[in-house]
Amino acid sequence: MVPKPSPAAVPTTRSKPLISGKAERFTESVIRDMTRQAHLYGAINLAQGFPDFPAPAEIKRAAQEAITADLNQYAITWGARSLRQAIATKMKKWQGLEVDPEAEITVCCGSTEAMIASLMAITNAGDEIVVFEPFYENYGPDAILSGAQPRFVTLHPPADPTGEWQFDKRELRAAFTPRTKAIILNTPNNPTGKVFTRAELEFIRELCVEFDALAITDEIYEHILYDGARHTSIVTLDSMRERTITINSLSKTYSVTGWRVGWAVAPPVLTNAIRKVHDFLTVGAPAPLQEAGATALDLPESYYEGLAAAYRARRDRLLPALRQAGFKTFAPRGAYYIMTDIGGFGFPDDVSFAQHLVKDIGVASVPGSSFYSHPKLGAHQVRFAFCKTDATLDEAARRLLKLKKA
Ligand SMILES: Cc1ncc(COP(=O)(O)O)c(C=O)c1O
Repeated sequence: MVPKPSPAAVPTTRSKPLISGKAERFTESVIRDMTRQAHLYGAINLAQGFPDFPAPAEIKRAAQEAITADLNQYAITWGARSLRQAIATKMKKWQGLEVDPEAEITVCCGSTEAMIASLMAITNAGDEIVVFEPFYENYGPDAILSGAQPRFVTLHPPADPTGEWQFDKRELRAAFTPRTKAIILNTPNNPTGKVFTRAELEFIRELCVEFDALAITDEIYEHILYDGARHTSIVTLDSMRERTITINSLSKTYSVTGWRVGWAVAPPVLTNAIRKVHDFLTVGAPAPLQEAGATALDLPESYYEGLAAAYRARRDRLLPALRQAGFKTFAPRGAYYIMTDIGGFGFPDDVSFAQHLVKDIGVASVPGSSFYSHPKLGAHQVRFAFCKTDATLDEAARRLLKLKKA
């Protein structure tokens, strides 16, 4: 029997397009789709960056207590006072920065919302946004949805596996024009693991000042650093305080990606605009989880040392396994992903390789092309996330060895 088409699939003649030009210009997230494929094929999910181990007990308790205490109604639109205060205190402690929690912080539904709300708050049609590529997948659709024109600048992979991903200063300078409204930074970086050095950020700072551009910096992996790498926030550099939006979230630092609590820190004029967009996008982030967020941000320094040490051990578990399976790997300095080169496997492209991996080998990864503006740029790369237990990583390693026999 021929299946009856669902009403949505019935072709109709229309006088105008059903779908907006903006929504036509991007696809669903490949990262999130790979998670669905991992479920479908029973594969180990090294695609999407969420931990498969528990969040810290004290913050889960704080969330439970907040619900029991009936903090279950809308928080203040731009964030519960306790969380905004905790963000300001943490920024003072870690960045040495005085931030006014009443006028400079907007709590959002994850850094995802903080980024799109910030872009919508600052861009007009035709404004240009400089983005390093490979980039975290969301930034492309974020730029389209906000009406801005992205200008991509390549992060070149290192020639040897222990080297650094680098940008060419001339290429970066050429991407800045009088129409440049902002540059999006992500350090520590997903997917490359690059941690931008102070000298690199100084160069970016000079361009921002020269072209009167803003920096929007996504620092959600700020505490996940390896091999002595140090995190520098561009907002702390000379003249950047008034032109930086710093984005962060609970998701990665406290292993609660499903809580959807993040924030944007920016000078009052920018914050005012971000708050307005945020208000009409989502009204607010989950109220009891904001209270628990205040507890999270108050954890002692030893928590962050433990977090980085545990991730270093996971990185050092997966890296040799990938090499043994035949991947060329790029060792990350920060964040919890390993970008790999799949040239040795003889597949036509990253998508067919990732499909083979998820269906036949039983490991989900993310095709490299989803981190680039053009598919051919990432056609020989795939990314693995290692925010997983030892047991998960070991089972993935065992399965990946089948690649050698295939
Ligand atoms: C660089 C980067 N920014 C933002 C996000 C999303 O973070 P959130 O859960 O805070 O929305 C991710 C998630 O993987 C990410 O890697």
